[in-house]
Parts: sequence; C-alpha cells; structure tokens
Amino acid sequence: MFKIIRKFVLGPKIQCIVLDAPLIAKKAQAGQFVIVRVREKGERIPLTIADFDRNAGTITIVFQELGKSTRLFGKLREGDFIPDLLGPQGNPTEVEKFGNVAVVGGGIGVAAIYPLLKELKEKANFVITVAGYKSKDYVFWEDKISAVSDRLLIMTDDGSYGRKGLVTDLLKEVIGEEKIDRIFAIGPTIMMKAVSDLTKEKNIRTIVSLNSLMVCGMGMCGACRVTVGEKTHFTCMDGPDFDGHFVNFDELMKRLETYKSEESE
Ligand SMILES: Cc1cc2nc3c(=O)[nH]c(=O)nc-3n(C[C@H](O)[C@H](O)[C@H](O)COP(=O)(O)OP(=O)(O)OC[C@H]3O[C@@H](n4cnc5c(N)ncnc54)[C@H](O)[C@@H]3O)c2cc1C
Ligand code: FES
Repeated sequence: MFKIIRKFVLGPKIQCIVLDAPLIAKKAQAGQFVIVRVREKGERIPLTIADFDRNAGTITIVFQELGKSTRLFGKLREGDFIPDLLGPQGNPTEVEKFGNVAVVGGGIGVAAIYPLLKELKEKANFVITVAGYKSKDYVFWEDKISAVSDRLLIMTDDGSYGRKGLVTDLLKEVIGEEKIDRIFAIGPTIMMKAVSDLTKEKNIRTIVSLNSLMVCGMGMCGACRVTVGEKTHFTCMDGPDFDGHFVNFDELMKRLETYKSEESE
C-alpha cells in the first residue's frame, strides 16, 4: 500500500499527487514512469515520475483526469492509500553535456520535463525551455520550471498567457537564433510529431517520450509497440524515449485511437 502524502490541484482536471514510495524514489531517474493501480481490481495506468525526493522517500505524479482510472485517482485524498505502484519503469533519459539544449513540454508534458531539466542543468547545459499550455488556467509549475531553465518561454493556444500560438512557432525562432545541439520534446503525440518534423529539416537530434497504450508495462503484452525506423519496439521496455526522426507517429496516433469507444464505455 502506498500513502498519498500531499495532493494539489494544478489546473482544470490537473492533479498533483505526492506518494510515499521510498524504494522507487531511491532509484528514480529522469524519463522513467510508474504503473499505478488505483484500486485492487482496477486497470494499470502508466504515469511519469514528475519529481522525486530520495531523502523524503517520495515521488510526485502530475496527471490529467481523462477517463475512469485517472478520475478515480483524482478523487483520492491526502492520507488515502493506493494498492499498487510498480516502478521505476522504462529507461532513464540519456543526459550528458550536449551544450545548448531546447526542451519542449506541452500540457501535462510540462511536468514530465522537470526531472530532465534538473539533470541537464546539473550537467552544465544551457537550457532553453519552451512550455505550451491550452490557456492561462492550465499554466502550472512556472516557478519550478524557471528555476531549472536558463530561458523559459511560455506559449498558450489562445494567448491568454505568454505568447499566443504553438510551441513549434517559438521553437522555430529559437532554432533560427542560436545553435541548438539537442532537443527533447514531451507532450501530446501530435506536438512531438510537429517538433520532430521541424527539427528533421535542420538535422538536430530530437528525443521524444512516447505515450503508447500500455497494459502490462513490463514487456509481456505488446500493447505498447511502436515502429521506430524499420524496427518494432516495446515502449515500456525499449523506451519511452526514442529518436523522434525515426518514430512512425501516424501509426502511433492510430493505435492510440483503437480502444477509444471501449475506454469511454
Ligand atoms: C509512459 C507513459 C507516461 C505517461 N505519463 C502520464 C503523466 O505523467 N500524466 C498523465 O496525465 N498521463 C500520462 N500518461 C497517459 C496516461 O497513462 C493515460 O492518460 C491514462 O492511462 C488514461 O487512463 P484513464 O482510464 O483515466 O482513461 P481512459 O478512458 O482509459 O483513456 C482516456 C484517453 O487516454 C488514452 N490512454 C488510455 N490508456 C492509456 C495508456 N495506458 N497510455 C497512454 N494513453 C492512454 C486513450 O487513448 C484515451 O484517449 C502516460 C502514458 C505513458 C505511456
Ligand atoms: S505495455 Fe505490455 S509490452 Fe509494453
């Protein structure tokens, strides 16, 4: 059983939960995720480790209430317990001193880039963060993200905060202004595709974190398979990070739609 230590609302249907999970906190690294089961007979959902505190023995998860499991998770309160938490799963993001790095986060993906930003700064990179949100109400963790970025650029779809437009508009400017050695993008699949298309033209290596459908999260069911280059990979075991220039995003988006009617049922 894993106890909910803290719970905050970060925006419309966006929740942040701090869980007591000392063994996971001890091993967690940027890019990894956990598989959560909110109740004993519930489904297993993958959620990124958005922060961890090894001393306190806690991990932080930020999630959007989309369907049944995330809604149930959102209903739990501080002091409640969840029965299952598996992790850390997936391969840590490979971080070294690249030089100038642009990190793009979209929506809930802004939480997922936080541990990566911390590590990039620790390794003395110059980090430009582009964070995109739907509107002002959805903006969260601005201070936290700013503290681990050399430059933070905020975009909203409707222009109610920061600049109006898509993250790719700003990224295009950033790439035009200075030499960027590496790009990371985490967010909606369509955003990661757009970023990868843009940077492919400029030949800047771009790492994306894929949000394939997952069932087991441990390489057994094949639900999370993706095509990268000519090869089929399991996102849970081989990823979630992949080179965005080789990901078959169209196939991934089609697969994400496969069980939509069953999920809403
Ligand atoms: C590695 C990884 C990390 C993720 N990290 C986060 C995170 O930090 N925060 C967050 O809010 N979400 C994250 N997701 C997505 C999250 O797992 C889904 O939103 C969640 O499983 C939806 O479950 P549900 O029952 O509430 O909704 P459902 O009714 O099951 O689905 C609602 C929508 O979510 C999509 N979805 C359903 N199951 C999954 C799944 N297993 N993986 C991906 N998408 C799914 C469906 O296509 C559907 O559009 C991550 C997914 C992956 C693969
Ligand atoms: S989720 Fe089952 S193999 Fe990846």
